[in-house]
Amino acid sequence: MYCGIVGYTGLNYQSAPILLKGLQKLEYRGYDSAGIFVPDVADNMDQLVKEKGRVSELVDLVDRSDVSGTAGIAHTRWATHGVPSVENAHPQMSANERFYLVHNGVIENYLELKHKYLTDVPFVSDTDTEVAVQLVAKFVEDGLTTFEALQKMTSLLADNSAYGFLLMDDQEPDTMYVAKRKSPLLIGIGEDFNVVTSDALAMLDETHDFIELNDNEIGVIKPESVRLFNREGEEISREPFHVDIDASETDKGTYEYYMLKEIDEQPVAIRRMLDKYFGETGEILIGDQILNDIKAADRIYIVAAGTSYHSGLIGARMFESWSGIPTEVHVSSEFAYEQPLLSENPFFIFLSQSGETADSREVLQNVNRAGFKSLTMTNVEKSTLWREATYALPLMAGPEIAVASTKAYIAQVTLQAILAYALSDRIDLDLEQELSKIAVDIQAIVDDKAVFEKVANELLVPAHSAFYIGRGADADVSLEAALKLKEISYVQAEGFPAGELKHGTLALIEDGTPVIALMTQPKTAGLVRGNIAETQARGAEAYTITTKALAEPGDTGYVLPDVDPLLAPLLSVVPTQLLAYYTSLGRGLDVDHPRNLAKSVTVQ
Ligand code: F6R
Repeated sequence: MYCGIVGYTGLNYQSAPILLKGLQKLEYRGYDSAGIFVPDVADNMDQLVKEKGRVSELVDLVDRSDVSGTAGIAHTRWATHGVPSVENAHPQMSANERFYLVHNGVIENYLELKHKYLTDVPFVSDTDTEVAVQLVAKFVEDGLTTFEALQKMTSLLADNSAYGFLLMDDQEPDTMYVAKRKSPLLIGIGEDFNVVTSDALAMLDETHDFIELNDNEIGVIKPESVRLFNREGEEISREPFHVDIDASETDKGTYEYYMLKEIDEQPVAIRRMLDKYFGETGEILIGDQILNDIKAADRIYIVAAGTSYHSGLIGARMFESWSGIPTEVHVSSEFAYEQPLLSENPFFIFLSQSGETADSREVLQNVNRAGFKSLTMTNVEKSTLWREATYALPLMAGPEIAVASTKAYIAQVTLQAILAYALSDRIDLDLEQELSKIAVDIQAIVDDKAVFEKVANELLVPAHSAFYIGRGADADVSLEAALKLKEISYVQAEGFPAGELKHGTLALIEDGTPVIALMTQPKTAGLVRGNIAETQARGAEAYTITTKALAEPGDTGYVLPDVDPLLAPLLSVVPTQLLAYYTSLGRGLDVDHPRNLAKSVTVQ
């Protein structure tokens, strides 16, 4: 599930404001209900407040309910089992009103467990989570401690279940229990307090030091102690890692939506990457071991989902053209269950903004079992894909909050370019200089916002459907452009190789259908012009995004500066991001929170 978890236990401060602020920081991930539980030691009363809808409504409700206490757990839920409702919102409470549980993930065998163990227990929700909390209550009634009951409950969950559990027992009001498999959970370390969160961004106002929980581990957290136990129940220790993100980076500042802020941050993302990956004399700072392992491979397999997959399509062109290494790109959800025949000595690259995408992780686990080497490129250090791959390189894009990914795509393409370049003998391109120039060029494009706002309002806001076309790398960017448009503006959009139009899709072109052609590849620009003419002859409204060298008088469109064709996607994608943004805005939609979508997809 895509839900968010926060928990707090401390000596000095009220927990509710901290938890609610945490939930607000998690809003970007998508949710449809929210809830909080705070044990009140003073009055010996438990306070459970839940709301269907926005966190702001929960905040009002909590204010009115006078919630008080210095520990508590809270959750934003994205419905999977059962509709969004107060009953189905978390925390879920045991029938004896002693245990409270929030949960990210899916318990595959929850009905089976309910029928086996809980036939005489009254249920109030349709959730798998309620089964989990009732099981804990039952095992405690049978004589186990809370810790043992949690251990037993998790051991009964089917292997393909995913969970991040945060549990409280009202008999120990300062203690939080955590357990996890597949779904991320972090324990944040403070002085006189500790926190739990599914996403470090939610708790950066409290702490920057976190301990990650690994699969099948259980943690017991009090204000002044954190204890971790492995699957066998043996106590283990793990050092915290430091998250080096300024909490202000997660603020919207003067922007109406994060997405525009993040589009504007793209030049900075590239510059950060240049600082990180190029040394003072222009040498590339990627470890020799990674480079040697990739050079020793006979094929690269890039595995990713959504926008990250689209950036992989561009990367593959660079690995093949610059480094001469055959490269395949695969959608992770397909690769996981329909694995193609692999080469003798493959090397895997995982691309993931969040580092938590369950589909990609499934592949990585298979890759690890087979003993192949891998590299994760991700924006979130210490994320699951980061930790579980042989190597990891950070994207340096800064927190990406809007559901629609923009700067992570730019960062992924940039990092793949740097890696492909480091693997190549190609000397006729000064990549560092070219990328610095691209950062400046992107700045000029984002400064042209008014142009794209106008085009979006005239061409796309009224449209039912739209098409992005291009050839070569432009076809890859078309896929990304169409995804961005559909996911935030709900305009049915398709992106595909321009030459494919006449093999079927041309039938959809009607009077006024927007066709946006990307034309940055000198080799095929003439052919794309032919394809545009075919659509115009059927009534399409054509708009071109092309480079200065390839522009022609009379074009209706936007002209980009000239750039190496393989790097052109870094420029051509930016107008398409802005077109999607202004189309969504023009249609009066919530740009950052498109319906049915969430930022980090931690279920398959
Ligand atoms: C679209 C978008 C998604 C993600 C996809 C993979 O704008 O953001 O398509 O790219 O869910 O997520 P990550 O990159 O976190 O693995």
